[in-house]
Amino acid sequence: MTTRHGGDIKNAALAREGVARIEWAAREMPVIRQIRERFAKEQPLKGIRVTACLHVTSETANLMLALRDGGADIRLTASNPLSTQDEVAAALMVEYGIPTFAIKGETTAIYNQHLEAAVLHRPQITMDDGADVVALIHKTRRDLLSDIVGGTEETTTGVIRLKALAAQGQLAYPIIAVNEANTKHFFDNRYGTGQSTLDGITRATNILLAGKNFVVCGYGWCGKGVAMRARGLGAQVIVTEVDPLRGLEAVMDGFQVMPIAQAAPIGDIFVTVTGDVNVLDRPSFEVMKSGAVMANSGHFDAEINLKVLAEMSESRRGLRPFVEEYRLTDGRALVVLAEGRLVNLGAAEGHPASVMDMSFANQALCAEYMVQNHASLSNAVYDVPRVIDDEIARLKLDAMGVRIDTLTEEQERYLNSWELGTE
Ligand SMILES: NC(=O)c1ccc[n+]([C@@H]2O[C@H](COP(=O)([O-])OP(=O)(O)OC[C@H]3O[C@@H](n4cnc5c(N)ncnc54)[C@H](O)[C@@H]3O)[C@@H](O)[C@H]2O)c1
Repeated sequence: MTTRHGGDIKNAALAREGVARIEWAAREMPVIRQIRERFAKEQPLKGIRVTACLHVTSETANLMLALRDGGADIRLTASNPLSTQDEVAAALMVEYGIPTFAIKGETTAIYNQHLEAAVLHRPQITMDDGADVVALIHKTRRDLLSDIVGGTEETTTGVIRLKALAAQGQLAYPIIAVNEANTKHFFDNRYGTGQSTLDGITRATNILLAGKNFVVCGYGWCGKGVAMRARGLGAQVIVTEVDPLRGLEAVMDGFQVMPIAQAAPIGDIFVTVTGDVNVLDRPSFEVMKSGAVMANSGHFDAEINLKVLAEMSESRRGLRPFVEEYRLTDGRALVVLAEGRLVNLGAAEGHPASVMDMSFANQALCAEYMVQNHASLSNAVYDVPRVIDDEIARLKLDAMGVRIDTLTEEQERYLNSWELGTE
């Protein structure tokens, strides 16, 4: 339903439920809370038009409130057709007055219409998760470029797209790669994706993981977390990789590492987290066990070749929410979760608030940094300034009640000198 606020959500009547959910997440987001309080006083984003394209979840809502209280004029649109929490979208619109364009399960056509609607207020800052807003503006809305001072990008895949755009000399404004902050990918990609991917799989299927052959494709930050948590639940974890260093790391972390051709016939559950395309494809489908379950936690729904799987199948049926069985012409059945889209957001609730606290603290502080420093930045993809990263880690530790040591003067001198060696 479209509303007088100019957004498009499923049902405004869900707003109260959404508020409760947003407040629940806030309990685990002390860093964002502190930033919100400071923003409310200092108004660093006063009057700044922001288009945010993020998963519309309770954690994102807390970021939106921090930006709004900092003075920003925001439009929020979903960064994935399946990841929206409809009650949160309703609360943002109805209770907090933030125009939101997001309906869980929207078609790709609606998804794109939402993106287009969210840039109609001519953003000065774009905040992406997967670079869809940047791509839209660069492809079809170049007229908006004159107003934009900069942007931020949340995830690995978006950073890869933006670096490709910059390498071609086409990137038209500076972007800060939030994903590259240590306080983002060390925690969000690893612990967040790790826990929530397993959560999505178990909520969707309720299958016992203990004793299952659990294949993790990709041993990057996300893959490490998924493998670690699957092992914790008793699965036999197998890792596939294309990068020798990451393959070696997985071996030394105690996992079996093998090519996908070898893993495909023995896996019970497969999770792709590579950011790559067609990681599970016809050769794997041809040899998988009947009943094998496939899920993706990489950004785009491109990691499992569902087009080919559909071609190989004589029928499809939904067995439970987010569980679809493909009946192959040879009689085997292969199962796909959440339509091959991010399973942790599709079939569960995405990352726990505590990690999003840090990821979104980076978003908020980088938006502020961009407003203050854009004049000195060129059209490139920048890392998050180290001071911001350190500040977020410090705030998070403080909030957790954990204290650490400080270097003594002697240690500081020693660590900054080259003269002292073997004595
Ligand atoms: N589900 C979520 O909520 C969530 C959160 C953060 C990131 N992501 C997404 O997850 C994906 C992975 O992110 P990351 O931070 O782990 O990236 P990363 O670059 O650290 O790791 C990806 C790994 O996949 C490997 N890989 C590439 N192609 C492969 C193939 N064909 N077979 C096996 N391995 C292959 C790479 O060598 C690399 O080690 C990205 O798309 C990212 O945007 C999802």
